[in-house]
Amino acid sequence: MAEFLNGLKRTNYCGEVTSEYIGKEVVVMGFVAKYRNLGNLLFVDLRDRTGIVQIAFNKSVNEEIYNKADTIRNEYVIAVRGNVVARDEKNINKNMATGEIEIEATELKILSEADQTPFFIQDNINTNEALRLKYRYLDLRRPYLQKLLIMRDKIVRVTREYMAENGFLDIETPFLGKSTPEGARDYLVPSRIHQGEFYALPQSPQIYKQLLMIAGFDRYYQVARCFRDEDLRANRQPEFTQIDMEMSFADEPRQVMDIAEGLIKRIFKECVNIDFTEPFEEMTYQVAMENYGSDKPDRRFDMKIINISDIVKDCGFGVFTSAIENGGSVRLINAKGLVSNMTRKETDSYSHFVQDYGAKAVATILLKDDATTCSFKKFMTDEEIEAIINRAGAEKGDALLIVASEKDSVVLQSLGALRLHVAKKFNIYDQDKYDIFWLTEFPMFEYSEEEQRLVAVHHPFTSPMNEDLALLDTEPLKARAKAYDLVINGEESGGGSIRIFHRDIQQKMFELLGMDEQTIKEKFGFFVEAFNYGTPPHGGLAFGLDRLVMLLTHTDSIKDVIAFPKVQNASCLMTGAPSFVEQNQLNDLAISIDKKEE
Ligand code: AMO
Repeated sequence: MAEFLNGLKRTNYCGEVTSEYIGKEVVVMGFVAKYRNLGNLLFVDLRDRTGIVQIAFNKSVNEEIYNKADTIRNEYVIAVRGNVVARDEKNINKNMATGEIEIEATELKILSEADQTPFFIQDNINTNEALRLKYRYLDLRRPYLQKLLIMRDKIVRVTREYMAENGFLDIETPFLGKSTPEGARDYLVPSRIHQGEFYALPQSPQIYKQLLMIAGFDRYYQVARCFRDEDLRANRQPEFTQIDMEMSFADEPRQVMDIAEGLIKRIFKECVNIDFTEPFEEMTYQVAMENYGSDKPDRRFDMKIINISDIVKDCGFGVFTSAIENGGSVRLINAKGLVSNMTRKETDSYSHFVQDYGAKAVATILLKDDATTCSFKKFMTDEEIEAIINRAGAEKGDALLIVASEKDSVVLQSLGALRLHVAKKFNIYDQDKYDIFWLTEFPMFEYSEEEQRLVAVHHPFTSPMNEDLALLDTEPLKARAKAYDLVINGEESGGGSIRIFHRDIQQKMFELLGMDEQTIKEKFGFFVEAFNYGTPPHGGLAFGLDRLVMLLTHTDSIKDVIAFPKVQNASCLMTGAPSFVEQNQLNDLAISIDKKEE
């Protein structure tokens, strides 16, 4: 029979009812996590978002309630009034906040019955992910996911406080907008009124936040939803959230970095009680690439990349010498103390691994206890091998993994990826440690072989460094940008730049990117025009909120920190989105579909 609260009010969340409440009456409400009938005594574990509390129904005290409680099953929604009593010594559970008490029920309302759920609502269950995501609302009842989303809320709350304290205004920007040049594919929304025309969902509020600076708002922030139609990975979703900010009267990276760094320190302090008292280090892009082969190096373990080109340039091994002669390099990493893992099968697998990055193979020097083996020994003198070992600082127990290529970038990227692969496989870093630093002095441009032109590493509005302005005319690929990323544990947690605010520099930038007047006008004429009416110097940054939550909670899957995430193929297993729509909806939009998915 349907029951209502009839004015019954909750006095406490389940997880709050600790031994302090002994002797008091409480009213709790929640989901039944577990029930056990021990004959005259029936126990229910009641769950809400704060935890679990044990309720006791005693037949000899109140038979009517006991009989009603006997109909309760898992996940029923109930409300209970009762008296808090101490548990018998032997039943105390020190691992639970509420483990010293139980509630002796004096009133029970069964508010909603529940069918058997497709899986148990429990942490550490082995239920397959697809089933969990189909019933995401049940999955979300699990304490682990609740904890993550509660942490997410806290991070946002701390962010809002901090940004307000620093004079940033929360201003919303449109979802239905014009495509912005962020680099990924846009999600498009067809217009009914302007048939054949489309809005683009924002890849980020980049253009709008710059216009807000031109509009005189001076300091803006937004917890902004962004949409990018790109291949998904463990740390990427098609819609994700940025903590996005922009400030005026800033023309040097430090000004923005200081604000952003203060925010991250505040978040770590308030959310996980970690105090970073020292300033975050800075590392230039060049140093990062040279030492780690990555623009987001994971420095929780050492294993730096070491150049041995000078040692091997005249050796007898053609693979090495020809790589160097053709403008490339030979470099290695030292897998310290890991030689006992380096079976033939293992090192062969590294050769396959680096092929994805354009290298051909991995050569090895293995410093085993009984002997040192070298996969290219017959081409080398003992002195050369010794020199390599010395350069690597290697000792017995170490394994040197060497890559050569005619392209330096291939060597660096291969070894950069291999060092992560090896570190992960042999778990050589402390998972609980945080390594946070700024990566600065990114190049302005890279050359796209595919498009046969320069492309912007960040976006076309990123300012070059003052001292590199002249390079735009001579060697643009050498020009560095006033751009910065905050790297946390080998992840890009956020990034931004100082923007161009001088018309002549912007014009030059467009020219270098091969954009003609017509393209500029069509793509962002409105934006370029705005710069003609007075533009404060400005810059900003955006953190990936989802990634911050992952980093603070040591979660590997971005899906775990988003209430209703998409899966690999960008669909939602719970709602079935995306889905076909009615013909009349298509007619309104003047859209006809000629290709259906199989
Ligand atoms: P950027 O493109 O580097 O910069 O994005 C900023 C941060 O957003 C996060 N991020 C993502 N998180 C989850 N899923 C994704 N698909 C995804 N893509 C990016 C990352 C990244 O560091 N407008 C500029 C910022 C600026 O210049 O102010 C921008 O969007 O953590």
